[in-house]
Amino acid sequence: MSPSVLIVGAGPTGLVLALALLKNGVPVRIIDKLASPRVGQRGIAIQPRTLEILKILGLLNNVLQRSTAIRKLRLYEMPGATRVEKEHTFLPTVATTPDKPLPNARGLGQDRFEEILFEHLGALGCKVERGTELRNLTQDADKVSAEIVKADGGVEQCDFEFVVGSDGGHGTIRHLLGLSFLGETREAEGMVVADMYVPKGLDHDFWHIFKGPGSLGAGSAPGGQTAAGSDHVFFMFLSAEIPRLFTVMAGGPRAREFPAESRDGIIEYFYKATGRRDVEFGEMKCASWWRPNIRMVDKYGEGRVFVAGDAAHTHSPTGGQGMNSGIQDAITLAHKKLAPLSLLSTYSSERLPVIAAMLEKTTQLLNDTLKKEAAATGAAWNRGDELQMFGINYRGSVIVLDERNPQPDVLPSAYSIGKTLRAGDRAPSAPVHCASDAAVQTLLDVFSCRKHTVLVFTSAAARAVHDATKVLPDGITETVVVVSRELAFQLSDVKVLEAVDGHAQTIYQVENEPTIVVVRPDGAIGAIVLEAGGIGRYFSKILQ
Ligand SMILES: Cc1cc2nc3c(=O)[nH]c(=O)nc-3n(C[C@H](O)[C@H](O)[C@H](O)COP(=O)(O)OP(=O)(O)OC[C@H]3O[C@@H](n4cnc5c(N)ncnc54)[C@H](O)[C@@H]3O)c2cc1C
Ligand SMILES: *[C@@H]1O[C@H](CO)[C@@H](O)[C@H](O)[C@H]1NC(C)=O
Ligand SMILES: *[C@@H]1O[C@H](CO)[C@@H](O)[C@H](O)[C@H]1NC(C)=O
Repeated sequence: MSPSVLIVGAGPTGLVLALALLKNGVPVRIIDKLASPRVGQRGIAIQPRTLEILKILGLLNNVLQRSTAIRKLRLYEMPGATRVEKEHTFLPTVATTPDKPLPNARGLGQDRFEEILFEHLGALGCKVERGTELRNLTQDADKVSAEIVKADGGVEQCDFEFVVGSDGGHGTIRHLLGLSFLGETREAEGMVVADMYVPKGLDHDFWHIFKGPGSLGAGSAPGGQTAAGSDHVFFMFLSAEIPRLFTVMAGGPRAREFPAESRDGIIEYFYKATGRRDVEFGEMKCASWWRPNIRMVDKYGEGRVFVAGDAAHTHSPTGGQGMNSGIQDAITLAHKKLAPLSLLSTYSSERLPVIAAMLEKTTQLLNDTLKKEAAATGAAWNRGDELQMFGINYRGSVIVLDERNPQPDVLPSAYSIGKTLRAGDRAPSAPVHCASDAAVQTLLDVFSCRKHTVLVFTSAAARAVHDATKVLPDGITETVVVVSRELAFQLSDVKVLEAVDGHAQTIYQVENEPTIVVVRPDGAIGAIVLEAGGIGRYFSKILQ
């Protein structure tokens, strides 16, 4: 029997998981308690590493077509707010390099990103069951029994092999499993987050920040006294691909004096604080009060039930890592194809160090953003690699195999890599030619969420490596030979790529031939081995 999976929660995490599992032939049901999709731009920035994962999932073209570049940021001098004090980039635009053909984040409202996911799921015959809530679950060694309440109030009791809670920060499943969710909630740093049209006064092609002493005058701060620093205000306007639509964040110690989640309240606060009455506001699409909630689970599940995305970690949106981390949880979990159970525990052990590092980074950035002096830049991140999420790695994982650099790793963080490429790292791209398929122009074009890609550097070892993959279950690998220049080389079922200008060899740091690199379906390097026999040693770790 193939595994059947219930996915609880149809935010970006659940939707990506559903898609990745369906593409691997795993039947899923996906439910959401809301009657209709949520409105809100929320996670606007799709980070470069996530773009690569969307490519591996077959979604990239749609995302590139509908999204925009990340805008430059205008920081206004306060009080007064009319002069732009600084223009800088939160996520600097960087040039493509042979190993990173997609180095720049894209801007797309989360609700429209979810629409793309609905479309792709629909094409596979999968529809989110709406108004449908998971209320309880119990599990034994073989199955999970879920109690599901339908839109019409009917209660369904149904068994699944696995259940995944992608049910958000307030999710049910984490509670039902009794997982800890340790961290802090910072009430004082709360802010309103609202999607509003701004037809006049703010250039849509920029993001805008007003931060510093506002012109609020003597306030009625709690206790009747104006507390020191209580004139400090914070407004951020983020635009994506819909003309004139901004996500407005409005914070500061006195934000709550105004009816925070109402359109009039937000406008009044902005006018009073900045004096910028030339800024005109249009329709408000949604608003909510948000406060930093910096927490994570201590493990990603129990038995046959898992959590992913915000259900496993919540943090500040500074750095735009939240939704991206959820998507990366999903693809990492799907890579395990939910079997065997022993492999599933590595989902937790691979993701926890990454998330811990991410919380540290986003909190540092939140601290800087709210500080009166510091500008809200990504300066807290010591390398672009980190914000772009290229450095995320599973080097410490028990299911990766590095026979080229077998000594234990001494990396400081699961969020950044050094110069040496190792098993567990992101599988880099490289420009290639493929005589049999003109569409293949980079290594990213051959990676897929459906299989492990076995890259063989040098044709001499190709047959031996290919033979080593033939004893594995059908369809789980594709052998791809990377040669330095076009050779009269052919082997049935083996793709031959010619490395453009030797970049692939340089990027993969090939010094000895053969070098064999196994790229997992989640785009991470599973193994680097130096002989065909390494294939069996690697797969014996994941196919017990
Ligand atoms: C105001 C705001 C601004 C944000 N800004 C950013 C940003 O700039 N950048 C960024 O990266 N991230 C941002 N985020 C975070 C980002 O939106 C989340 O990280 C992302 O939505 C997480 O996706 P998810 O799929 O894990 O969970 P969610 O999107 O929260 O989806 C969970 C779903 O589960 C459903 N559900 C819950 N319980 C049940 C149940 N028992 N049964 C059935 N369904 C259930 C809910 O209805 C919901 O649809 C922001 C979030 C908020 C609230
Ligand atoms: C969930 O089911 C268990 C076992 O049947 C039961 O003990 C528990 O009370 C239920 N919880 C809820 C919230 O219904
Ligand atoms: C952020 O600031 C808080 C105090 O406001 C401090 O306790 C915490 O260590 C800081 N975290 C980082 C990562 O800078």
